[in-house]
Amino acid sequence: MRDYEPYFTEDGSIGLYSFVDKDVYHSKYGALTEAWEKFIIPSGLKNDIEDNKNIKVLDVCYGIGYNTKALMSFVINKKQKQLLKKNLFQNFFCFIKCIINIVSLCVNNAIRKARGLSLRNASIYNDNSEQLPHVKIDCLDINEELVQLSPLFRTVKTPYEIYSQFVPEVFDCLEIYYTIREHFANFISRFAPKNRKEIKELLDLRFKIMHLDKEYRVNGMVNYMILNKLAEIFGKDYPDKNIKKIIKEKANRRFFDKSLIKYAHFNQKWGFKTSSKINLSAFLHNIYYNHLSRRYKRIDFKAAQSLFELNFHIKDARKTILEISDQYDYIFLDAFTYTKAPQLWTMEFIAELYNRMAPQGVLLTYSTSAQVRNTLLENKFYVGKIYNPKTNRFIGTIASKDKAKIKYPLNNYEIGLCNTKAGIPYYDPNLCFSNKEIIELREYEFRHSNLMSSSKYMKLRTLRSENEEI
Ligand SMILES: C[S@@+](CC[C@H](N)C(=O)[O-])C[C@H]1O[C@@H](n2cnc3c(N)ncnc32)[C@H](O)[C@@H]1O
Repeated sequence: MRDYEPYFTEDGSIGLYSFVDKDVYHSKYGALTEAWEKFIIPSGLKNDIEDNKNIKVLDVCYGIGYNTKALMSFVINKKQKQLLKKNLFQNFFCFIKCIINIVSLCVNNAIRKARGLSLRNASIYNDNSEQLPHVKIDCLDINEELVQLSPLFRTVKTPYEIYSQFVPEVFDCLEIYYTIREHFANFISRFAPKNRKEIKELLDLRFKIMHLDKEYRVNGMVNYMILNKLAEIFGKDYPDKNIKKIIKEKANRRFFDKSLIKYAHFNQKWGFKTSSKINLSAFLHNIYYNHLSRRYKRIDFKAAQSLFELNFHIKDARKTILEISDQYDYIFLDAFTYTKAPQLWTMEFIAELYNRMAPQGVLLTYSTSAQVRNTLLENKFYVGKIYNPKTNRFIGTIASKDKAKIKYPLNNYEIGLCNTKAGIPYYDPNLCFSNKEIIELREYEFRHSNLMSSSKYMKLRTLRSENEEI
């Protein structure tokens, strides 16, 4: 790829390294796992979805879209019962239920009328299970190329799905594993000679302790929904020449989903409007139904798609934020590390996020730094930590206007750290400084500040706690 190098992260999802930013886009530990554990699960959106509330989400730094994809997957999984296609029997059952409701309402009303009571104005058939939430997601990113590529990257390792059944648990033992891996790979490869390399890779992946939890996978429909939306935005040019070149490169092929690429090409060549409906549905059937599990095959694609409103804003998030006026229930802030790219961590940008946060909304970020936490505190947010029960560690930061949303508030030590030099915020007065200018401005303030250094603060705190122990 031109500016970035794809690689498989430890959970099997794809991560990117940027040569320009000299930074990784995704944690090596697991790009998709990170989206679930740092954004989706701690956000508490489970309750809203269960209560069928309409929600608005702001995904700042969409990249290749793991946070948005995990969110959409979460919603589809939670609502799968309502999204199941009704079969003939169910339709018949609903019809009978409706008739019974009408009859009982008429009978009740006749009785009430006879007794001189007013008629009941109840709805004839109101099945709550049909209610579904509406999820609006605004996706912000400056890199059009990445956004366009995002649905084409494999989020579920298709060969993994296929071959993992051949790799039983018994191979989780080093000696046995290495002795038989070669034989096993040879044997399996006979059935799929073209995938020999992938089989070996998958055998390795299977052996690793970290591999993507089933619950953290991305529902196969999600990428199609995103692809459809992008095709709608970019029209005939989707995917554009550069993207095609990237996809065609031999070294990159294994990172992309073949069927989605075919689908994108189809979209580009024929578009939805010009294709006959029959051909289109047959095409869709062949492509995405091949890759969905049995459970998902029964989910109604159109119904699932109608849950989401996706909007892509492809330019500097500092410009976009000034153009949008919604109040968001969930804000995901997944910018590059602030030391290299502070543009989206400044006092002014965070203030704009504060203004667009709903009263009970939450902002989530992977950063645990004193600088980021202090910037949030200075902007009047209540700030807390994101706890991961799986690892029993704090892994990020959560902020809200509502104190009740903060389950694990910062302790005295962490608040003290925010008040040291380490907590000095970045400034970007008109939201147009370059990263270099923002860094230089802070370095100046750092040099002239009377605040205690973080290292001195930490030493003092250790001394004090030792004295208290004596
Ligand atoms: C750490 S990556 C985000 C990863 C992403 N959440 C994902 O799931 O792939 C940071 C992203 O910030 C974007 N970015 C950097 N500066 C930006 C800016 N000023 N406005 C909008 N996006 C920006 C980059 O293009 C990159 O995609």
